[in-house]
Amino acid sequence: MATDVVLRAFTEEDVTGFKRYWDQLEPATDRDGMSYASTTKDDQSFAEDGFLSDERGRLAVIADGTFAGFVGWRRRQNAGNSMAWCWNIGVGILRDHRGQGIGTAAQAQLVDYLFATTPVERIEASTDEENLAEQHVLESLGFTREGVLRAGNFAQGRWRDMVMYSILRSEHQRGDR
Ligand SMILES: CC(C)(COP(=O)(O)OP(=O)(O)OC[C@H]1O[C@@H](n2cnc3c(N)ncnc32)[C@H](O)[C@@H]1OP(=O)(O)O)[C@@H](O)C(=O)NCCC(=O)NCCS
Repeated sequence: MATDVVLRAFTEEDVTGFKRYWDQLEPATDRDGMSYASTTKDDQSFAEDGFLSDERGRLAVIADGTFAGFVGWRRRQNAGNSMAWCWNIGVGILRDHRGQGIGTAAQAQLVDYLFATTPVERIEASTDEENLAEQHVLESLGFTREGVLRAGNFAQGRWRDMVMYSILRSEHQRGDR
């Protein structure tokens, strides 16, 4: 198990590890990673803003001093009024760092960070119906399984169902996890 997991703003060195992440994904099992790549890889440049803007962000996950992956978030509007926005979070851990508690620790720290530094009420995460590891992690962090987004994603040549999870500020403050 990794003993020390921290999130930090990307350095140039971390960007090298980040590029490696996309190369080691397995399309058959890392469907979430692949879709996350297609939505966030190209539209945000480290050189422009260090992967940190008002609308979205990405931090490096460092485990025992080594780049192990990333966490990310993007703003999502659920209704027309200005209050009705939330963060949708994602995570990617390098394959050889998985199963060591790093994904759990990283997402726990991201949730703490977003509730502490922004006025958001709701943090959500959606994941492929077959991604049992991520579903387990989200539930262990106190997220509630809200339901299934039928045909919520297109990956590996077909429409796929996704599971939607969320945690509210009040639940986080109560320390439900
Ligand atoms: C999902 C992911 C982030 C998990 O990261 P990780 O560092 O391996 O996670 P952890 O080691 O902290 O925890 C994994 C948990 O899932 C459990 N798990 C693993 N496979 C499982 C399965 N098939 N069914 C149920 N639980 C499973 C593990 O037992 C562990 O739980 P525990 O700590 O209670 O024993 C990682 O696999 C990944 O990056 N996948 C590709 C990208 C992705 O899917 N991102 C998520 C959606 S954006």
